[in-house]
Amino acid sequence: MGAQRGEFQSRLGFILAAAGSAVGLGNIWKFPFEVGNGGGAAFVVVYLTFCFLLCFPVMVAEIAIGRKTNKNPVGAFKDLGYHNWAFVGMLGLFCGVLILSFYNVVAGWAFGYFLEMVSGNFAIGKQFGPFTSNWVKIGLYGLLFMGTTAFIVSGGVKDGIERAAKILMPSLLAIIFFLLIYATTLPNAMKGLEFYLVPDFSKITPSVIYSALGQAFFSLSLGMGALITYGSYVSKRENIITSAAMITLADVGIAFIAGLMIFPFVFYQGADTAGGAGLIFTVLPEIFETLGPTLGVIIGSLFFLLLSFAALTSTVSLLEVPVSYVVDEHEIPRNKAVWMIAGFIFVIGIPSLLANGAVPMLTNFIDTGVDFMTWVQFVANDSLLPLGGFLITVFTAYVWKKHNLDEEISIGYPGYEGSFAQKLIHFGVSYLAPVILGILFILTVLNRFFGVSLI
Ligand code: PHE
Repeated sequence: MGAQRGEFQSRLGFILAAAGSAVGLGNIWKFPFEVGNGGGAAFVVVYLTFCFLLCFPVMVAEIAIGRKTNKNPVGAFKDLGYHNWAFVGMLGLFCGVLILSFYNVVAGWAFGYFLEMVSGNFAIGKQFGPFTSNWVKIGLYGLLFMGTTAFIVSGGVKDGIERAAKILMPSLLAIIFFLLIYATTLPNAMKGLEFYLVPDFSKITPSVIYSALGQAFFSLSLGMGALITYGSYVSKRENIITSAAMITLADVGIAFIAGLMIFPFVFYQGADTAGGAGLIFTVLPEIFETLGPTLGVIIGSLFFLLLSFAALTSTVSLLEVPVSYVVDEHEIPRNKAVWMIAGFIFVIGIPSLLANGAVPMLTNFIDTGVDFMTWVQFVANDSLLPLGGFLITVFTAYVWKKHNLDEEISIGYPGYEGSFAQKLIHFGVSYLAPVILGILFILTVLNRFFGVSLI
């Protein structure tokens, strides 16, 4: 059955695909401005701690559940014999659909910016507002991006997802290193690096901790079953612990390098580090312009190509989750499932597409002062992902039970029993993750939906 469903051909293929899911807009678009808002290096320290102590065990649990059952997130819970936990998979599916619906819009902007940069239009930085309000243009870019995602996913696990990851991830690495080397030669680069690398621990406030945790969880693609799905295509020979460690390292490493690359650019021009979501789309094009017409076009296009590649391997994983569900549970052929679901999610994403200037009612959604796309992120990224992570760890530790988790991990890792890794995973899934994610969920819901701010 495993072979029929598709399986990653190599360990590297799986790691690249899963790291591709993790490395995305979250690393290159969100991480630097979260660091900027969170006061620089102190944020990075908190972020790293969460990634390794809390997120890593959740990732191991997700991959183990997927590999044990060879099923999509809904089927996995049923297959383990817990039908009334299948709702957790459903919640993940729902959350994934929501994330992809807005994520594809931003990915479309990134691709649109790539085309603008290629044609040397640096003024686009000043026209971010008019750009995102131009619904015909961004609609087409969004459609193109979703189409490319669907094309890759329709190729299946080996010939679609794995092959694309094997091309896109090394290209991404090459581009990011090239840009990094270039950035560090700019005047003021050291000031940027200092802001980024020298922590000022007085800046660690509860709200910095709160956003670092949310960022870590989103960035590692946890809480919605993306890694249950990818785990279901992993061979029994693989060592889940070392694979998860490599995926986490790759994600953290790329986010870190993205910061190393971006802050020298920002400080070179003395731009505001707390530039918010616009840091990349408004500030960077102007900085690229100052590099001169030829170099500016090269660096600018490479940057937005990098962003598009990173986004693409993530949209692929987001689409694969509902596709695997429909293919496994409803026995619909993959190709048909892919195009149907991609079309459906594109349609769901239309309000997000129109929420950045095109339609005033969506830009200031029901007079909340916040746009519709940000509302979707409140629901999906900020609330449902921590809830999903909470439920998955509670399930793993107290329902499925740790000895079953251990058994699955031990198949590819004979020395696991009694190891330090086992202690870390046990502590993570039984105590740390459920408690902290539960608190994160409650704080977020109180804050976003009831206006109560406890931190
Ligand atoms: N981790 C991706 C990013 O950082 C986003 C993502 C979240 C992808 C959840 C899949 C699942 O951009």
